Amino acid sequence: MIVLPFAGLFAKHEAPGRHVTGTPSHAIAARLKIGSSAASGSKSDGRSDVWSASRIKMLTHRFSVAPMMDWTDRHCRVFHRLLTRHTRLYTEMLTTPAIIHGDRARLLGFDASEHPVALQLGGSDPRDLAEAARIGEGFGYDEINLNVGCPSDRVKDGRFGACLMAEPDLVAAGVAAMKHAVKIPVTVKCRIGIDDQDPEVSLDAIARAVVAAGSNALIVHARKAWLTGLSPKENRDIPPLDYDRVYRLKQAMPDVPIIINGGIGSLAEVKAHLAHVDGVMLGRAAYQEPWRLLPIDADIFGEAPRFATMKDVFEAMMPYIERELARGTRLHAITRHFVGAYHAVPGARAFRRHLAEYGVKAGAGIDVLRDAVALVEERAAQMAA
Ligand SMILES: Cc1cc2nc3c(=O)[nH]c(=O)nc-3n(C[C@H](O)[C@H](O)[C@H](O)COP(=O)(O)O)c2cc1C
Repeated sequence: MIVLPFAGLFAKHEAPGRHVTGTPSHAIAARLKIGSSAASGSKSDGRSDVWSASRIKMLTHRFSVAPMMDWTDRHCRVFHRLLTRHTRLYTEMLTTPAIIHGDRARLLGFDASEHPVALQLGGSDPRDLAEAARIGEGFGYDEINLNVGCPSDRVKDGRFGACLMAEPDLVAAGVAAMKHAVKIPVTVKCRIGIDDQDPEVSLDAIARAVVAAGSNALIVHARKAWLTGLSPKENRDIPPLDYDRVYRLKQAMPDVPIIINGGIGSLAEVKAHLAHVDGVMLGRAAYQEPWRLLPIDADIFGEAPRFATMKDVFEAMMPYIERELARGTRLHAITRHFVGAYHAVPGARAFRRHLAEYGVKAGAGIDVLRDAVALVEERAAQMAA
């Protein structure tokens, strides 16, 4: 067996990108008679099973930005990537029917700068999951993640998301099918339980099932989802957080990368969690306050930050925005992700107002963003004078 420098981040029996004959994932996939076409489609692409050290390093889950529907689209991810080189980014959840039958280029296309970027799937049918994962791998995603935590009605009706916490065997079958179909890591994002489940039982049950099926990591939103009576938004705040439950899972499964999520904001909090688990995933704090991402490369990954200031980030974003505008993308589709870019600096409000007023207009061009950034710079110069 090849010893890889970052192999500790993955389940003991399996290094990233390598399929070990006889693992439980293959056994389950064989039982399900997952078609060989899906598997051969991805495995005959000529890529080596042995990944370079730098590629493996990119796969770390030490810090990530959560999948968020309507928020973490590709424009947002390009912005986040300029803020931090090493943070793992996730797409919005895409359902398996959308991927299999929909406009793939529109749904799955992403900018080359976004790596490492994971595709999150919503679904429960193992064959569909395998097919969608294979398509995602073909598009170049670095990881496939399965959503077992989203409580929205639409998702519940489709038998996926958080309701799958009650069906660990079905989730495991889905993971096994995806592992069989792709070489890239497959991970699961779940809750600690749903409704009247006992989290001491439900989290262990889902974790053991998906790890046995080959999941390379587990991301745990450290609260239950209450599927009756709460809206999806309430389900992100009302069920109490239980970080200790996630820490105990890590103690029980020391070889499995465990990433904690839910209610985390500051760098100090991130560091405190990293003393207990392998990674931290930020959702709302990262999106609503993107300035929090600027120091992440230095403070979490120990590498020089890509850009020192938000102004530099926007400067670096300009060519991308110009390309997108030329393709017919509206400026607001991109600048809507910048609302919280500045924090506690003079001019932050003027920046937001300028984007809100002029960025939404039909035909708005890149000068709107330049002028908004200039407002912040002017205020800073006034303060310094
Ligand atoms: C607007 C919004 C959309 C979300 N969409 C998804 C999604 O598509 N898939 C998913 O797994 N979680 C989704 N979530 C949940 C987040 O990934 C995360 O688990 C949750 O917000 C808790 O983390 P936080 O407290 O750091 O925000 C969404 C959250 C928000 C706020």
